[in-house]
Amino acid sequence: MENGRPFLIGGRWVHTSSTASVHNPYSGETIAHVCQAGPAEAEAAMQSSVEGAAAMRRLSGYARSTLLQKTAQALQSRQEEFARTMTAEAGKPLTDARREVGRAVQTFSIAGEEAKRIGGEVVPLDWSPGMESYWGVTRRFPIGPILGITPFNFPLNLVVHKVAPALAAGNSILIKPAPQTPLTSLLLAELLLEAGVPAGGLNVLPCDNRVAEQLVVDSRFKLLSFTGSAPVGWMLKAKCGKKKVVLELGGNAAVIVEPDADLDYVAQRCVTGGFSYAGQTCISVQRIFVHESVAAAFTENLVARVERLETGDPGNERTVVGPLIDPGAAQRIEGWIEDAVTQGARVLSGGTRVGSVVRPTVLSQVTPGMKVSCQEVFGPLVTITPYREFDDVLKAVNESDYGLQAGVFTSNIGRIFQAFEQLEVGAVLANEIPTFRADHMPYGGVKDSGIGREGLRYAIEDMTEPKLLVMNLRRP
Ligand code: SIN
Repeated sequence: MENGRPFLIGGRWVHTSSTASVHNPYSGETIAHVCQAGPAEAEAAMQSSVEGAAAMRRLSGYARSTLLQKTAQALQSRQEEFARTMTAEAGKPLTDARREVGRAVQTFSIAGEEAKRIGGEVVPLDWSPGMESYWGVTRRFPIGPILGITPFNFPLNLVVHKVAPALAAGNSILIKPAPQTPLTSLLLAELLLEAGVPAGGLNVLPCDNRVAEQLVVDSRFKLLSFTGSAPVGWMLKAKCGKKKVVLELGGNAAVIVEPDADLDYVAQRCVTGGFSYAGQTCISVQRIFVHESVAAAFTENLVARVERLETGDPGNERTVVGPLIDPGAAQRIEGWIEDAVTQGARVLSGGTRVGSVVRPTVLSQVTPGMKVSCQEVFGPLVTITPYREFDDVLKAVNESDYGLQAGVFTSNIGRIFQAFEQLEVGAVLANEIPTFRADHMPYGGVKDSGIGREGLRYAIEDMTEPKLLVMNLRRP
């Protein structure tokens, strides 16, 4: 029996005899063993979440805000420890990992502000004869225990995007972290305990899919907030019964480059958007559509930049493109590149793999039916496709099951508005890559990319229920 890192239920660290190992995606080395919850621990965690919800609901806005601000400060002071943990378990390049900690500090701190402004509205009810003496007022109440299931790619900030609004709204939350990256969540749980989260306000439960399903189907949870792949997300939604569901799923984000765009700037942004963290972001740039009049110049510029990217060891501060999460993911992408080439695609850069590192890859002459075009690559790969007519390129972008974010580079305001109206996505970014995200903005997709929005205020809306008080002010 291995001694594993314990998990958190009801403010206590729980050890179990069953453990799972955590690997460094770059070296393959085992870096930790983590205790795994079974059905009994899942049941205890759910009971604790119900008690935690009652305790959280009793806290004032001031107390919730203070808890979140204290956590933000504690996270800031342990920034390097968090960054290095993510580099070790997720293979995230150190500079990206540090940036992620900075974002998570901001996410907690905005949640601390939002905790104080969860209001309601006055509803006039005197619109019909006989109702002159009535008026109403709404107030948002915490929805109850929340279940958060989180992915490996942002082991900190995507956990914080569920934990911080849940606590801000006065709910408890149980986090089931990704099996590849549980260490960051456990470290975060430590911070929240120190900051004074009530017992059961946060539970962190590493477990296998069977136990996770026990959580998903349980009606004590009032909301499932899931971030991960589209097939898993939609499958879980079908098992959720009456609970609310928020799904942040995948994408194959597109960029449109019009002839008036600053090609040097766009190429630089597309390299950041397509290759940072080896493209393992739901809003990674995948499909680049360039007007035919500038396609050659743009492609040359982009490829030259891609060739200069440092790849390999994520612990090296200069590395931009580290490993994929595991060798299987890298092999899958290698297979998709081979398929595309067999069907006529041209490799302009990269296209090869060493262990779990896929060299940054640029493909041209792709067709819409190739996996690299129509599916989510979730790897360091972009495709370049020339177009002639703006109407046609909008259709091409929409020819996708996904719809998360899209970028349009042009100074033509008419085209920006046309894209805003016609693109089937959660957000259109004008003169910016779709990989852009400010943590307080509404974030989420349409079509297979999900349902609902994150971004503190928007998440809090889903995590609360408006209740109406009707007042009859009739005079006797
Ligand atoms: C995601 O992969 O969905 C999150 C992207 C981000 O927060 O930057």
